[in-house]
Amino acid sequence: MVFIYKSTPSRGIDAINTFSVRWYLYINPHHPKGIDRYVESTKEKIMLKKIYYLTKKSFTWTRFTNALKIIISYYISIIIKKPIVWGYPPIVMIEPTNYCNLRCPLCPSGANTLKRDRGFMTYGMFKQIIDEIEKYTFMILLWNQGEPFLNPDIIDMIEYAHSKKIYIMTSTNANELPSSEYIVKSGLDLMLISLDGASQDSYNKYRNNGSLQKVIDNVRELVKIRAKVADSTLQLINQFLVMKHNENEIERIKEMTTELGLDDTVLKNIQIYSKEDIVNFLPENPKYRRYKITGDNFELKYGIKNRCYRLWTQPVINWNGDVAVCCFDKNNEYKIGSVKKHNFLDLWKSNRMNVFRQTILKNRQLFDFCRNCGEGVDLKIKKV
Ligand SMILES: C[S@@+](CC[C@H](N)C(=O)[O-])C[C@H]1O[C@@H](n2cnc3c(N)ncnc32)[C@H](O)[C@@H]1O
Ligand code: SF4
Repeated sequence: MVFIYKSTPSRGIDAINTFSVRWYLYINPHHPKGIDRYVESTKEKIMLKKIYYLTKKSFTWTRFTNALKIIISYYISIIIKKPIVWGYPPIVMIEPTNYCNLRCPLCPSGANTLKRDRGFMTYGMFKQIIDEIEKYTFMILLWNQGEPFLNPDIIDMIEYAHSKKIYIMTSTNANELPSSEYIVKSGLDLMLISLDGASQDSYNKYRNNGSLQKVIDNVRELVKIRAKVADSTLQLINQFLVMKHNENEIERIKEMTTELGLDDTVLKNIQIYSKEDIVNFLPENPKYRRYKITGDNFELKYGIKNRCYRLWTQPVINWNGDVAVCCFDKNNEYKIGSVKKHNFLDLWKSNRMNVFRQTILKNRQLFDFCRNCGEGVDLKIKKV
């Protein structure tokens, strides 16, 4: 995206042009003078590539002004402590299924503590949602609880969202994937691969029922096929949950990421639910934790502010069409409504949704799931 004005040039416009052309060269991974030449840090490269591909694929003025309106109305809402929502969600999380093939102990889906019915979203419902949001939404997050690639229509879903120029991210345990060729050619933009163990033993301490070898084989295949597809922009990122049993494997995992040909490793701190989880899963090193611990108690180290950007930017639609305020309401305790009965964009601006926003602006402590959520928390560990 370069802004070139054809009218009589002025110094201001010259400056904008010079800046935008430089910026474009800087972040364009395909330009000979682009990212790879100027940027050394892998993290920065990955981030810039993501911005470049995202903008190139999904930019429209309507989506851009919508996102701007949402951001402005969010900050005004914080100041006046009343919810104002001037736009529609720029990002939507869609749950293809809440079934899973693994049994991760701290995941409601894997531990079987999820209190919702299980099922698969139909292609028809997915298409209906995309048709409604495509004008305003520039990115979808194609997961929630469960393993997205178990949905038999997942490739068709990705292809459909891609045809509407929406940037698509997903997260997978990569134990059972459809053909790599389908995935790479589907138009998927970013895949988080949950590879959090350097040996089968350590991997299985969390990824119960999973096979490290299967993940490695699947990753190798994806990397191989991606290299053959000339115009592929798919980014493959290893997301490593840092826990007590694997915090000593971080360096090894980074080496594995390079050996396998993945683009980067992202370290994420874990969410826990009980004091037993402190003993069993929380890493010893406090810099890998999102909590501070006092005796048997744990609380978010950053405190809880009465605000939440997620309520303005990224709602969730579960497999059956039920809308949730965010991905931390895993059991859909606070019901907004269903896209089977209402337009999603009407639900977004509904009284029910605004009552929730209003409550959070006054007192975020009132909801259990808000007290242990990611708002205001750095979930990614940046400095190791
Ligand atoms: C519920 S999973 C669903 C997607 C897929 N099945 C997977 O595992 O990647 C969504 C994300 O939550 C992460 N996750 C699982 N347990 C977690 C925990 N206790 N704390 C933080 N993130 C967790 C997974 O690694 C994944 O990136
Ligand atoms: S693989 Fe993902 S969805 Fe499945 S149990 Fe583990 S974290 Fe949960």
